[in-house]
Amino acid sequence: MCGIIGILSNTLVAERLIDGLSRLEYRGYDSAGVATIYENTITKRRAEGKLQSLKDLLQQKPLPGTVGIGHTRWATHGSPTHQNAHPHATDRVAVVHNGIIENYQLLKDGLIKDGVIFKSETDTEVVVHLIDQALQAGKSPDIAVKETLSKLHGAFALAIIFKEHSDMLMGARRGSPLVLGICDDELFLGSDAWALAPWTQKICYLEEGDVVVMKRDNGFAYTIFNEAWQPINRLVKHLNLATGAASKGGYSHFMLKEIFEQSQTLSDTFLSLIDEETHTSRINLPIDFSGEHVRIRLIACGSSYYASLTAKYWFEKYAQVLCEVDLASEFRYRDPVLSKHDICVFVSQSGETSDTLAALNLAKSKGCITLAIVNVPESSMTRAADHHILTLAGPEIGVASTKAFSAQLAVLCALALHAAAQRKSMDTISTHLRELLHVPKLVAQVLQDVSLFDELGLRLSQTRDVLFIGRGTNYPIALEGALKLKEISYIHAEAYAAGELKHGPIALVDKLTPLIAIAPNDGWFEKTSSNIQEVATRGAPIIVLTDDPMFTVNCLEFRKILLPKSTPLSACFIYTAAVQCIAYYTALHKGTDVDQPRNLAKSVTVE
Ligand code: AGP
Repeated sequence: MCGIIGILSNTLVAERLIDGLSRLEYRGYDSAGVATIYENTITKRRAEGKLQSLKDLLQQKPLPGTVGIGHTRWATHGSPTHQNAHPHATDRVAVVHNGIIENYQLLKDGLIKDGVIFKSETDTEVVVHLIDQALQAGKSPDIAVKETLSKLHGAFALAIIFKEHSDMLMGARRGSPLVLGICDDELFLGSDAWALAPWTQKICYLEEGDVVVMKRDNGFAYTIFNEAWQPINRLVKHLNLATGAASKGGYSHFMLKEIFEQSQTLSDTFLSLIDEETHTSRINLPIDFSGEHVRIRLIACGSSYYASLTAKYWFEKYAQVLCEVDLASEFRYRDPVLSKHDICVFVSQSGETSDTLAALNLAKSKGCITLAIVNVPESSMTRAADHHILTLAGPEIGVASTKAFSAQLAVLCALALHAAAQRKSMDTISTHLRELLHVPKLVAQVLQDVSLFDELGLRLSQTRDVLFIGRGTNYPIALEGALKLKEISYIHAEAYAAGELKHGPIALVDKLTPLIAIAPNDGWFEKTSSNIQEVATRGAPIIVLTDDPMFTVNCLEFRKILLPKSTPLSACFIYTAAVQCIAYYTALHKGTDVDQPRNLAKSVTVE
């Protein structure tokens, strides 16, 4: 997703705009730009591709000025070219934008009729021309912005500077996150607090509809206006975020580092949820799971959706409570039947995914209890939900989720057992909770020797299509494995419930399409073995992830990766680490951009 930075200072800002953008690179982007005001002139520098291109451009053509805005663009409207890169500007005003202006075409048509010449294909450019028109009509900058915002439909986080007012910086938030950073002698805007951490830990999270006007005259001051344009005070939080640039810690990629961090992050997460002495739940939520009519709804996107699909098995098997799982992008538009008995759980690493956030707001409007499971403490979902539980995976920089995903599984598993305890649906809860405390060691075992994953990655890097299968909780892990592989290696990968293969997808099987089977020796093992055999007889290369040393398949090309002995609860963590490694090493051998794969964003704040 796009990243936004704004700085109002007494010192030059161009370099720090770039520094701030570099702390937003993890969000994914394909062009970048900055603009400052100097000697009553707005000047831009924009470049396609990675931030280094922009840095090189600034080396050649430095940008003076003590007020400025910056942007990393993840293309939505218009290809990732220099012309479409932000900031967009007229002589009078410059804007950077994260989000989508849904009615931009109508607005653009009107502006063209007024004689405006557009230079880009972006939706954002309508914003800058609308503000410019209001300024030309004599409106003050804040009124020009207010009038413009009232015409916009869709989502935006905006940072805005004005040629005639180089002592001013404005920000606006609707549907996309924006934070205000506060110092005595300068003020900041950012898409998240982490981007501003090297300069300030005093952060104010703008709420939906907020506009902030920041001024430098005798000192620095700001005023926040709510949607009704009334001045409002928002809480200033004193954070304690890491100020250093994210470091790979000696690993070749953030993703690899984050895969290897899982043993620790899972331990941290489990210990926040389970009392290691009494093996009882430490979850402290004012939510009653025991009601007769209670229904659990898990709503998420992408990997977080697969974590939720896994949890469905746990809620229904252990807590014996009805559990439905929805893709957030579907849930919010399908008129779901909701009631006050619904406990709606929103799972999100970033806590900013617009589809999931919109689904959360829908559930709230229907009177449901809302619980967010997120990895970013001060994210929009944390603040919008009635309750939240944090996954303690720490900042996840790789766009492909790994440690945050396994931490989501940890929270969801502990929550299902917490619900089971309240519902008195089983009497072996403490046994399962104790078992979970051993999971980090099992994950560490998977990662002790990754040479087989490396070899397999080399083999898979030469394929075009890969099939994954699994049964029970192994099925959503197969889905996650397929997503990881396609996300970072760009190899087409599909996952199916093993029992579903014969209902059509087996037509895809040929000797060029390897099958990866998630097959721990569990209750589903025998049937999965039959499904593997069905594929092997059709000539496909077979790769089996299992803890059964005796398992073999008679076929042309067979590989087995032996994993630690697992139980129905621990298996998903063990096999998750394995499929993450398979994806990572395949991408490594393919030479793709593992940490920032093409077209992807770490936080999808647009629909
Ligand atoms: C995960 O590897 C993907 N990058 C993506 O599917 C992600 O899980 C999805 O966009 C949801 O993001 P969230 O967890 O931040 O809501």
